[in-house]
Amino acid sequence: MRAARLTPLLLALVALVTVGVAGAGTIIGSRHDLSHFNQRGYGGSPTGPMQGFTFNDYREACIYCHTPHNGSPVAPLWNRNLSDTVGYSMYSSPNFNSGPVAAPDGISLACLSCHDGTVAVDDVRNKPQYHKWSDSQVHYKMDATDAARGSESCAKCHSRAEGGIGGVNAAHDASIRYLTQNLRDDHPISMVYPNRRVDPQFHQPPLDKGDGGRAFENGIQTYEGNKVQCATCHDIHNPDEDNSEGRDPFLRVSNQGSALCLTCHEK
Ligand code: HEC
Ligand code: HEC
Ligand code: HEC
Ligand code: HEC
Ligand code: HEC
Repeated sequence: MRAARLTPLLLALVALVTVGVAGAGTIIGSRHDLSHFNQRGYGGSPTGPMQGFTFNDYREACIYCHTPHNGSPVAPLWNRNLSDTVGYSMYSSPNFNSGPVAAPDGISLACLSCHDGTVAVDDVRNKPQYHKWSDSQVHYKMDATDAARGSESCAKCHSRAEGGIGGVNAAHDASIRYLTQNLRDDHPISMVYPNRRVDPQFHQPPLDKGDGGRAFENGIQTYEGNKVQCATCHDIHNPDEDNSEGRDPFLRVSNQGSALCLTCHEK
């Protein structure tokens, strides 16, 4: 079982690294490709160059998330060190029938290992061993406030509220993408998808994924224990950053006309 799941990933890793696939529909060159950030802005890119060193450039896209060996089980061959599961504020409301949830779990931890701002973006279990990269000595986190991280936060430049940098070398404001550990203001995650008895106002996903999760025909899916997680709505490899496929970045389906929401919610 396990070997059968891992082999395609390894093959894909090898294929993508050697062929160097680029362009629409792939993670390469997207905001989830952390390699070569500093160089990317020169020539042709809509953005300017990223200034200075803020994290290690391992010179390969996949390694910030995957490793061929000794990965963590939260996602396939997962290479990132995870956040502590203490300290989160989780969604709550009187009508939240499938909650409350104590802490995030499963594949959501994979996302939060960058997006909650407690783990540096280059903090991986296995670093590249056989090609050259140099330690940048600084390891920034995607935290929304700079001061809390001893000035090692991406917010130093990427948040207007924190001052940011303006002018010719202006960095885009990314603060909305820095979720923090306060998940009260985000769509609930890590709860079991409600059956008809728990909440009759939800469409039931018809397909069995075989891994403890279920799926709708359009790709919206639950994970182990039939839980809703970040990757339920998001496809981490599928950028569509220029919206050419009519989909917001990294969403599994378009949310035009609330299509994404109405996949699950009946109202
Ligand atoms: C930003 C983090 C991140 C990066 C970078 C990344 N992946 Fe993934 N990858 C994931 C996550 C999370 C999953 C699990 C997705 C799921 O189960 O829904 C995954 C799953 C996979 C899978 C299993 C099949 C699938 O799609 O579920 C393959 C194969 C894969 N990744 C290949 C790659 C390759 C090759 C690269 C580099 C070109 C890469 N990934 C870069 C996060 C990443
Ligand atoms: C290796 C670190 C890393 C991991 C792991 C990661 N992300 Fe991201 N993500 C980023 C960065 C960096 C950005 C771009 C931030 C910016 O705009 O400056 C981003 C941006 C995004 C965006 C916004 C894209 C846009 O253009 O508006 C979404 C959505 C997103 N990530 C979802 C996820 C989900 C879901 C997961 C887990 C399945 C995940 N990410 C895991 C680093 C990561
Ligand atoms: C010293 C200021 C500074 C810091 C700190 C900084 N950046 Fe940037 N970054 C920039 C500038 C300037 C650009 C280019 C203009 C733009 O796209 O915003 C940029 C560009 C980017 C891009 C766009 C790349 C592209 O071509 O799409 C991403 C994503 C990004 N930075 C993520 C991060 C992350 C993640 C961190 C923290 C680990 C970080 N930045 C820290 C200044 C900074
Ligand atoms: C129920 C579906 C759903 C779940 C679950 C979900 N997201 Fe999203 N996410 C969305 C949608 C839809 C958008 C686009 C919002 C917009 O454009 O207004 C989005 C936007 C984002 C963005 C871009 C910033 C923004 O607010 O526009 C990031 C980063 C992100 N999600 C990360 C995550 C992470 C990390 C998790 C898990 C902790 C998660 N998402 C869980 C549906 C979801
Ligand atoms: C994967 C299925 C799924 C998708 C897609 C989805 N939701 Fe949900 N949503 C849920 C579940 C499950 C709950 C928890 C319901 C409960 O247990 O009461 C929930 C809860 C909520 C709640 C809180 C309700 C309460 O009782 O406090 C709101 C608001 C909400 N969703 C809005 C949205 C919006 C807006 C979208 C589209 C951006 C969306 N949802 C997409 C499954 C989904």
